Amino acid sequence: MITSAPNKKGHTISFWKLFLILVGTLSVFGGMIIFFIIVTPKTTLTVTTITDKEIKELQGNSAALENGYIQYQLRCARCHGEKLDGGLEGPSLIDTEWIYGNTAQSIFKVITVGIPSKGMPAWGKQLQVEDIKALTAVIIDLNTKNTAKTDTP
Ligand code: HEC
Repeated sequence: MITSAPNKKGHTISFWKLFLILVGTLSVFGGMIIFFIIVTPKTTLTVTTITDKEIKELQGNSAALENGYIQYQLRCARCHGEKLDGGLEGPSLIDTEWIYGNTAQSIFKVITVGIPSKGMPAWGKQLQVEDIKALTAVIIDLNTKNTAKTDTP
């Protein structure tokens, strides 16, 4: 009678200990997985689409154009020049020569994914889609010299 009681008690405690260890371990791993999902930076870039209609709308929206122009001066001017006419590192964006095409979609895409091998950053990792759309509209708006549309090869 006396000897069986501690055994029973011991058994109960070890069950709950095990249970707590199990729950603890699972929540630690669960927490780590959630943490990594949140913290891990985006490695793949999703390129959405921009239509000519959207560009037209943006060109009529002075607040959007102004935002695009501010973004341009902040992030692009150091390579492509303050007037978009090219600089030491980046080509002119207002001439008639386009390496990657001058349709709204090809400009939007090149800004989003960049050209890492040439030093053009992938802005889709840092900017909101709306900002990239505004930048595309600004480039198209200021590029009055080029009327022939060529797409990305
Ligand atoms: C660190 C320098 C650098 C910065 C900053 C930069 N670019 Fe570029 N960009 C380049 C280079 C270099 C190329 C040309 C790549 C090549 O020759 O293949 C390029 C190419 C481009 C093209 C394609 C031009 C064509 O002829 O097809 C566009 C459009 C463009 N950049 C837009 C932007 C915009 C918008 C920003 C700011 C959000 C920006 N770039 C910031 C370096 C830069």
